[in-house]
Amino acid sequence: MACVAAGLLLTGVATGPSAIAAKKKNKGSVKKEAFGKTKDGKAVEAYTLANKNGLKARLITYGAMLTEMHVPDKDGKLGDIVLGHDKLEDYLDGHSYFGVTTGRVANRIAKGRFTLGGSEYTLATNNDPNHLHGGIEGIDKKIWSASLNRSKAGPAVAFSYTSPDGEEGYPGTLKMKVTYTLTNDDELKIDYLATTDKPTPVNLTNHAYWNLAGKGTILDHVLQLDADHYTPVDATGIPTGEILKVDDVMSFIRPTAIGARIDKLAGEPGGYDHNYCLNKKEFGKLSLAARVEESTSGRVLEIFTTEPGIQFYTGNFLDGTEVGKGGWKYEFRNALCLETQHFPDSINHPQFPNTVLRPKQKYTQTTIHKFSTK
Ligand code: GLA
Repeated sequence: MACVAAGLLLTGVATGPSAIAAKKKNKGSVKKEAFGKTKDGKAVEAYTLANKNGLKARLITYGAMLTEMHVPDKDGKLGDIVLGHDKLEDYLDGHSYFGVTTGRVANRIAKGRFTLGGSEYTLATNNDPNHLHGGIEGIDKKIWSASLNRSKAGPAVAFSYTSPDGEEGYPGTLKMKVTYTLTNDDELKIDYLATTDKPTPVNLTNHAYWNLAGKGTILDHVLQLDADHYTPVDATGIPTGEILKVDDVMSFIRPTAIGARIDKLAGEPGGYDHNYCLNKKEFGKLSLAARVEESTSGRVLEIFTTEPGIQFYTGNFLDGTEVGKGGWKYEFRNALCLETQHFPDSINHPQFPNTVLRPKQKYTQTTIHKFSTK
């Protein structure tokens, strides 16, 4: 298939320990705290992972969500580089999927319909006229149970949730486990595992919104994507089924400022919101998919994944109405998402990589976010 063609080697990998790395020698820690209660009185907990270099990731049991990611800049100063909210209530009132675990099926399913094993399934059309990110009350709005994981790589927490048969219209009881490890090599590693008792589509991802400067626009962030192809969409965000070669506007094969050609995207919903087909040499193997660099902070984010696709989204629906952490009004294009996943609406496109999980099979995915400075 076109999009699993020969790989492109991404260059310019930043090396060198941060200033903070030199100072701290502990092995990292995990701190558990209360993070409020849902409207029906269920307790939500926050877990803060700190690695031996002082990087910190904060995760909560509501939505198995990443709420904070503190990484050093080129002067060793820590800054939070993900969008989100300070309080649970702000998440409960509805938000833009900041940092959540998304599913059962991330992204869109056309008109909320699919056929599997001769049966037709109807899902909520919560993104008119389509189904988006698992429906009205997807796994991003569930309370997951947490357990601490022993890992030599660094502090870790595992979240588990069992989605009952028929939840949000999906067939099968789906058991999911998402493990976050903040490694001592300055990586946030996410491992996903799922099993089912009936055939069912599964496509999990994390929906972190990144801003490596910790403020302002992301148009000057420089992005490189190891993808020669993408899946074009119709006006409602549903893939047409084609796999096209990236043209001048869509290509990030060479490192390019996100804002360089964004306004040439004719007829698109305010920016990039596209699935790129990664140049995988071997299907399911971990490889470098994306690299983002921001020059004022010197921060670099590299994303490695086992997934065949990555949804690149430039915060086109942010419009300043959502006020986030520290009173930051999240404006148009204030963040970018790089959601590693199978292609959108795969269940209705047999030519796309398969998303159907069957009993006795295991769904697995690993995505690594590696932080460094330049
Ligand atoms: C994904 C989708 C976007 C949008 C955001 C959430 O990235 O592709 O169209 O729905 O999630 O706002």
